[in-house]
Amino acid sequence: MQESFYRGRRLRSSAAMRELVRETRLVPSSLVMPYFVVDTPDVSFRQPVPSMPGQFQLSLAELEKQMEPAVKAGLPAVLLFGIPKSKDPVGSEAYAADGIVQRAVRMIKDRWPHLLVITDVCLCEYTSHGHCGLLKEGDKTGVVLNDPTLELLTRTAVSHAEAGADIIAPSDMMDGRIQALRHGLDKAGFYNLPIMSYAVKYASAYYGPFRDAAESTPQFGDRRTYQMDPANAREALREASADLDEGADMLMVKPAGPYQDIIRLVADNFDVPLAAYQVSGEYSLIRAAGQQGWIDEERLIMESLIGIRRSGASILITYFAEELLCKGLVR
Ligand code: PBG
Ligand code: ZN
Repeated sequence: MQESFYRGRRLRSSAAMRELVRETRLVPSSLVMPYFVVDTPDVSFRQPVPSMPGQFQLSLAELEKQMEPAVKAGLPAVLLFGIPKSKDPVGSEAYAADGIVQRAVRMIKDRWPHLLVITDVCLCEYTSHGHCGLLKEGDKTGVVLNDPTLELLTRTAVSHAEAGADIIAPSDMMDGRIQALRHGLDKAGFYNLPIMSYAVKYASAYYGPFRDAAESTPQFGDRRTYQMDPANAREALREASADLDEGADMLMVKPAGPYQDIIRLVADNFDVPLAAYQVSGEYSLIRAAGQQGWIDEERLIMESLIGIRRSGASILITYFAEELLCKGLVR
């Protein structure tokens, strides 16, 4: 009888034992729920997103209704995306004082002062061409003008801050944006407002369903001249350190599941809080397979998020946040 071999099964013998020795846990305080809020006179507007079963475009009033049970169940933070009433080449509604995100921030902070409101800062939902910044007049290639875009992003961030946002999250991937935003926020007196940089954001096909939801698909060209090449890992370190040098307080890696090696790399190299965004395509793939009955959906949701956390992300941005809390799957 072999006496000396390793018996790993001793610590897997019961649910209580496994719980006791578990290395990674999901907790409510690390979850962030994204919402799509629409500028519409129809107060009861509530439009399902076809490619994201379970997610909706919501009027301001419907957003409040939708959030209620999640907040009751312990949702600590939301990430807001706006769909404006009109679009133009310079994305004016992104930085309008009465823009839809600005109004949503005011509503939420008024109703739930302790809830953290994170705003996505980008122009693609607001520009008629669907790019994340300014184009040269008549441009049909979609190569965004970097430096002139910075000023508009800064105006957007300051308008979110004035509305009461708790964290500013720029997702445009222009160079120098963190420096520009930090400078602009400081100048406006918001030196205490943190920036969560989408520092490591890949040009990903996983964003497809989001672009339906946010109505932000580029009319021509693509985002590969500003978002990162999925083949590059070491470049993530350059992007992250540039953003930290410029004043970012937190970093984000996006997408999350297919980029867990990048999450680990960034987590091991930088000591700031790290968020990971389980994006729309990751959500929709799990939902679709679940609806087909091909996988155990609840287990897969949990496993996908445990994996992201195990890779080193502490903050989880996921469209499953609401459901996890309301169903008591994360407590
Ligand atoms: C805006 C933005 C995008 C996402 C977050 N902010 C889309 C994009 O870059 O095309 C994607 C989120 C998701 O897919 O869930 N720039
Ligand atoms: Zn964008």
